[in-house]
Amino acid sequence: MIQYRHFHNTDPPGLLQLWHSCALGPAAAEGFSCDILELFTFSQPFFDRLGLIVATDENRIVGFVHAGFAPLADESGLDRRQGILSGLMVHPAYRRRRIGTELVCRAEDYLRLAGAECVEAGGGLDRNGFYVGIYGGLQPSGWLESAAPWNAFLGSCAYTFSTRTIIMHRNLKTSRDPVSAKLIRHRRQLEMVITDRPSGQPWWWFVRFGHLDSLRFELRPASTGLCVAAGQIIGMDVFIPKWGVRSVGIRGLFVPEGQRLHGYALALVLEMCRRLRDESVQLIEAHVDEQNQGAMKLFRSARFEAAERLVTYRRRLD
Ligand SMILES: CC(C)(COP(=O)(O)OP(=O)(O)OC[C@H]1O[C@@H](n2cnc3c(N)ncnc32)[C@H](O)[C@@H]1OP(=O)(O)O)[C@@H](O)C(=O)NCCC(=O)NCCS
Repeated sequence: MIQYRHFHNTDPPGLLQLWHSCALGPAAAEGFSCDILELFTFSQPFFDRLGLIVATDENRIVGFVHAGFAPLADESGLDRRQGILSGLMVHPAYRRRRIGTELVCRAEDYLRLAGAECVEAGGGLDRNGFYVGIYGGLQPSGWLESAAPWNAFLGSCAYTFSTRTIIMHRNLKTSRDPVSAKLIRHRRQLEMVITDRPSGQPWWWFVRFGHLDSLRFELRPASTGLCVAAGQIIGMDVFIPKWGVRSVGIRGLFVPEGQRLHGYALALVLEMCRRLRDESVQLIEAHVDEQNQGAMKLFRSARFEAAERLVTYRRRLD
């Protein structure tokens, strides 16, 4: 008989075991300890045990759903009108028994009671505050499309497709940098400035990436010293046991309005790749919304290829 209850402090080992039994696909880290799960999930300042609901069979955890909230527009706190399903899994031996459906219903009840008007299953680009560093690669921008029948399952729970984020990869060992006269000119004229931690970031950045290694890169023309392109890298060390290579994610690429369409972003990404290759990093990852054609083009020009897809589904709560 399956029973449902809220999270208990003694649950992490059972949740970790479930995680490793669920075949979550290439975008889920594996081989990590309970401390890591604790660090990226249960010790988050906004973790609420009532939002994590487990399904048990004679005290063994066979499924869980984890509900939370998206950030406010200025990323200074949580927007309790926008619910998120951050995690959901059912042990393979217990699937097709309506456990997933019951978990989703209970998570929706929790969110509704807390004031949520809608819920996004899978979170979305920059919206999921849990599992950063252990799910999705660089960040949990959705749920891996290939890992579960999301359309059939979430469709049966009255959700509709919302977003698809493309995980772009570049293998620095096997790919060569593109060459052009413009890139050569930029290399001569631009200086790379590296700071050891992105500063001036909002609360939402620190709660998600604060435990991970990070650096900020800026390109500045030697002549003016003004920043023409900036970006961050985030270490993805928890994925080393699964992928067998050192990987780093690029995020937060930004070119000031007046400096766009000069090839500065491409020059920056390539310069970041060069520096990371020198540090023995083999794989670089970036997450791009499939609607963002400009960013897709940029990463393709920098020799990145689409590797996986993360999806989200949405539902209004009455
Ligand atoms: C998606 C998942 C949670 C579904 O759990 P479940 O308990 O098997 O789902 P349910 O039994 O409640 O399914 C409800 C309905 O969804 C649909 N559905 C579920 N699994 C399906 C499948 N494999 N094929 C087709 N339809 C499916 C069916 O309509 C089903 O109703 P039916 O069995 O009466 O036909 C489960 O497959 C899973 O854990 N997958 C991996 C999760 C994952 O990758 N999580 C990563 C994010 S943390």
